[in-house]
Amino acid sequence: MLKETFLLSNGVHIPKVGFGTWQVPNGDIAYQAVKDALEVGYIHIDTAYVYENEISVGQAIKDSKSDRKDLFITSKLPSHIKDYQETETYFHESLKRLEMDYMDLFLIHAPWPWSNIGQDCKVGNAEAWKKMIELYQSKKIRSIGVSNFNVDDLKDLIKRTGFIPHVNQIAFFAGHYQKQKETIAFCKENNILVEAYSPLAIGHALKTPLVLTLAEKYHKTPAQILIRYTLEHGTLPLPKSTKKARMIENADLDFTLDQKDVEALDVLSEDPRRFG
Ligand code: A2P
Repeated sequence: MLKETFLLSNGVHIPKVGFGTWQVPNGDIAYQAVKDALEVGYIHIDTAYVYENEISVGQAIKDSKSDRKDLFITSKLPSHIKDYQETETYFHESLKRLEMDYMDLFLIHAPWPWSNIGQDCKVGNAEAWKKMIELYQSKKIRSIGVSNFNVDDLKDLIKRTGFIPHVNQIAFFAGHYQKQKETIAFCKENNILVEAYSPLAIGHALKTPLVLTLAEKYHKTPAQILIRYTLEHGTLPLPKSTKKARMIENADLDFTLDQKDVEALDVLSEDPRRFG
């Protein structure tokens, strides 16, 4: 599974399961997690400037002696950067921290600063996006996209720039489908690959009764049911763990869920107290 790929609209192959590093602290923990993930066979690593772990992620990659071209590395523009010139500065800073000379995927981290969710930054997003298009065209980035964008955000960005993102990375897990289904459908119609971050709802979905029942039915673990669920929707999961045994478990996904079980998971309602 770790070597299988989705095809992006620009012809770039992206490994079907990525290793997420959100909330994994820089230093020994991020270094060891990425080192273990690479040993397990993950070749797609997702980080971000604001995770503050790019240095350790880059160091672990470097020490692994992996061939750079065999890996798929994503980072993200900080959510408060909504400016053409600063986009270039921050992109180069991420590259520097990772000790790399190109990025496989670079994303606008959110349509608004995390400190002011919902703020109208449409003009600024288009400015950042124009710089990202240039960096993509100059081959510094192999594919570009956005994160946490809803349908309105996507439509506006496309209208202002004429360039459709290759990827939209969003929070997606069993229990969150009702909230995300319009975005997922719009992305599908426009050939934008959806990446699912927090496919386990940061661990909170693991004890959901339906997930436990399905784990028994399929002789799989709850984490495998949840990650497989995101794949059944054609989305690319980015599970994260600091434990090697779980990294192996989270990549063992060679089974399929029956459509009726996918539909049952679709209508699970999320308890907001458990996520957010
Ligand atoms: P840990 O790092 O201790 O393994 P998500 O990917 O949805 O954000 O979830 C990440 C959380 O889920 C982390 O707290 C991680 O903890 C935990 N986790 C990851 N994989 C598994 C697994 N296979 N079984 C149980 N918990 C897991």
